[in-house]
Amino acid sequence: MTPDLRTHLATCDRNGLLERVTRPVSPGAALARRLAEAGDRTVLFERVVGYRTPVVGGICASRAGLARALDTTPERLVHAVAAAIDAPRPWRSTRDAPFRAHVVRNPDLGRVVPVVEFYPSQRRRYLTGTIVIARRGDGVNLSFHRMMLLGGNRLAVRVTPRHLHALLAEGGGRAEVAVACGVHPALEIAASVSGPPSLDELRVGAALLRGRLECADLDGFPVPAHAELVLRGRFTGALADEGPFVDLTGTADGVRRQPVLVVDRLYHRAGWIYRTILPGGAEHKALMGIPQEPRILRIVANAVPGVAGVALTPGGCSWLHAVVAIRARAAGDGRNAGLAALAAHPSLKRVVVVDDDIDPFDAEAVEWAIATRCQPDRDLFVIPDARGSSLDPSRDPETETTAKWILDATIPFGRPREEFLRVRPDDPPGKAARRRARPRPARRPR
Ligand SMILES: Cc1cc2nc3c(=O)[nH]c(=O)nc-3n(C[C@H](O)[C@H](O)[C@H](O)COP(=O)(O)O)c2cc1C
Repeated sequence: MTPDLRTHLATCDRNGLLERVTRPVSPGAALARRLAEAGDRTVLFERVVGYRTPVVGGICASRAGLARALDTTPERLVHAVAAAIDAPRPWRSTRDAPFRAHVVRNPDLGRVVPVVEFYPSQRRRYLTGTIVIARRGDGVNLSFHRMMLLGGNRLAVRVTPRHLHALLAEGGGRAEVAVACGVHPALEIAASVSGPPSLDELRVGAALLRGRLECADLDGFPVPAHAELVLRGRFTGALADEGPFVDLTGTADGVRRQPVLVVDRLYHRAGWIYRTILPGGAEHKALMGIPQEPRILRIVANAVPGVAGVALTPGGCSWLHAVVAIRARAAGDGRNAGLAALAAHPSLKRVVVVDDDIDPFDAEAVEWAIATRCQPDRDLFVIPDARGSSLDPSRDPETETTAKWILDATIPFGRPREEFLRVRPDDPPGKAARRRARPRPARRPR
């Protein structure tokens, strides 16, 4: 059976991880609030006021849930995604595409799709679970893009300067695309990975699904056959005001002129489910952050051999702050690891480097390492005026630059490791005495 959103929801349900909301909910603040309260759980709104289709959110909100969906463990998740990027696989072609069950031409999107007004203070309705499929060479580019309802069949699409942006620039602002919404989490992770322009994310998705991905041809676009909703449209070259949108940081992103997408046809499955993502919520963070971790891991591993783990932390919006755990083998490894992490993910603003006895996902343990292993006059490095994230409201508004910082919270090199380890009740007798007997080692070299 081809894994799709429905098989994933059935698994969540069997494991007691699916919350069903049976009372009618309007696609506005009430729905957004419920998704925010659910944190990293999946919520299915069975009755949405004014629409016949149910709405689901939170399918990728939990690291553990994603790992389960990809048939791995939370600890192995980063390696599973890295392996799929390294060895993409072909998908299977099919003529039997459930998404073709219903077609609406020149759709009035706001009437057919329960597009959510998440933050009524902003008065904008957004599709957020939408993956753009664009043709590139003999493959395709997949990327998530939020889409603001302009009215009728028109959407303003936020396109940051990455691959879709380059494809649009090549076509003078015009491009034909397909859009898929409501697919298996593996495909959503694949759409969120950042690789070289030649990386075909559909094939990364096929690798994450171990080859069990079926795609159907739609006017030359390979489209996941079991997507709940598919839009077929074109960027016309026109621009429109897009925003304000509450982004990853939970703060309102500004209004920008962005490309307009005109939707000529809308396809949906029989009994379709509309998939949404709460902007600034746990799921938005997980989907943005998790696919970046393999790249950071890979590049830090080039600089420092013993990398134990990488976390883009939720407190740092799973985008701006990272923790890298290493086993330092030479003086300066901590700093090199920090520099490599900043280079690997250009949006990164702060990186804390810890030893491999610290779980990078455990915020309290990381703070403990900072408190007990780090002296800011020695271990804090600030890099001014670097290119950062457009999402950071504290960046320089004119140059869009930001300062970056590295905090090396690894055990000072040359000092006995034991002096810095937590003493446990079940430690063997004599350990503390042995520790006291050691001569004081030299300070970490500058
Ligand atoms: C939920 C979610 C929403 C996103 N929204 C946007 C967006 O509106 N505009 C954008 O340019 N990138 C957005 N992104 C980021 C891109 O989809 C992501 O960086 C992707 O890897 C870019 O693909 P590319 O490397 O092929 O260019 C979003 C990512 C996620 C996970």
